[in-house]
Amino acid sequence: MAEKRGVKKKPARQSFARQNLGGRRRVREILQNVRGMHDILPDDQPQWEKMLRTARDVSETYGFRKIETPIVEQLDLFTRGVGEHTDIVEKEMYILKTGGGALALRPEGTAAVARAYIQYGMDRMAQPMKLWYAGPMFRHEQPQAGRYRQLHQWGIEIFGSDDDPIYDAQVILAMVRFAEGVRLRNVRIEINSIGCRVCRPLYRKKLVEYYRGVIHKTPKGLCEDCKRRLAVNPLRLLDCKNEICQPHKEQAPALLNSICAACKAHFRNVLEYLDELKLPYTLNQFLVRGLDYYNRTVFEVFAEEGTLALAAGGRYDYLTEMIGGKPAPAVGAAAGLDRIGELLKEKNLLPPARPKNKIFLVHVGDLAKKRSLVLIEEFRAEGVRVNESFGKNSLGAQLQSADKEQASIALILGQKEVFEESIIIRDMQTGAQETAPLSQVVPLIKKKLQEMA
Ligand code: HAM
Repeated sequence: MAEKRGVKKKPARQSFARQNLGGRRRVREILQNVRGMHDILPDDQPQWEKMLRTARDVSETYGFRKIETPIVEQLDLFTRGVGEHTDIVEKEMYILKTGGGALALRPEGTAAVARAYIQYGMDRMAQPMKLWYAGPMFRHEQPQAGRYRQLHQWGIEIFGSDDDPIYDAQVILAMVRFAEGVRLRNVRIEINSIGCRVCRPLYRKKLVEYYRGVIHKTPKGLCEDCKRRLAVNPLRLLDCKNEICQPHKEQAPALLNSICAACKAHFRNVLEYLDELKLPYTLNQFLVRGLDYYNRTVFEVFAEEGTLALAAGGRYDYLTEMIGGKPAPAVGAAAGLDRIGELLKEKNLLPPARPKNKIFLVHVGDLAKKRSLVLIEEFRAEGVRVNESFGKNSLGAQLQSADKEQASIALILGQKEVFEESIIIRDMQTGAQETAPLSQVVPLIKKKLQEMA
């Protein structure tokens, strides 16, 4: 018996699927999208495309040129650009460990566009260099409404503008015009100035002294996050949302009172330009933003009643230096397309999910099926979209599909029609049918569509 105890039972042979995929149950499981990363389904595409069209129109109106940067960048670009002690870099980066050093999925677009600006010598071209982009960004945040791990941004960046405050105002204006372009009215702008590298360190010192005093008097008066940030990123204590920190925040030295005369003048100019544009704004002395590259103007744009920013940005005059380039004053902003899309849905402001007045081509028999293929090409050449369900052969099933697609007109092509060079045009609403010469069907349908529009 003792000997037997030592003998290991040979494991039963398992299938490849069981060994590698965790067994049959796993194989049958319906796989889902990754948490926090959502699909943009066909019904959502008209809305998505409308946002992208608006983004392009607004960008081009204000003289921005499109740029696309890779989704993957050197990790260093973000640790140096966005900041080692920001939430994005500390907690939210998707880092890829490869043979050639650490890479990261981009959590935002500004650092990458600044990298390209330096790398391709855009500072030697006509200035300011105005660039725009749109695409997915990746942040490992706690998923919740309006907060995704794959998020989509439209961003605009202006480099080499001699820190002219008119551009701060133009960037804000572009974000507001974008919101209006997708039919969101009455957005709210919150704005602040966080000073420059001359005055900010002095303010930071004052703030740290103040909060040290708070901790000394009431050791439990600050949340753990604030205690930790006090050492590495004290300005972020101003935008802490934790209830226990609120009374101390209210008493903290005011940032706007502490910035230098040059920063004050810059900020005043930005506000004057906003007044000139009749863009209402609220000063928010606690707005500091979660990315380290900002100086002077910072702002966020909200829906009237919203608490999550729809767009945000600011000035970042030192970013090019932080990532190894020559100084190039810059300002920019990005809008969150997912959040804006959700809001449009909520407010019922969506463009129609499907084009109106659809045409559906029904075939009966092989000959008609072949002819249908060519007929669709004739429609395509004239810019008319035609739907079909070639995989179905029965007339009834195809008409059912036409119904499901909410087609306005079904074109029915049978064996007889092919021989007679004709086609049946069926009004899907009334069921009324007429026969037309096949050679005339494209102009006829085009005319009908114009009449229906
Ligand atoms: P940000 O505030 O991190 O700034 O993001 C800009 C916008 O992207 C936010 O206002 C929000 O609408 C959207 N957004 C951010 N995170 C998420 C998320 N997890 N889920 C859904 N939407 C999100 C930047 O990224 C800067 N690069 C903006 C900028 C451009 N500053 C200067 N130039």
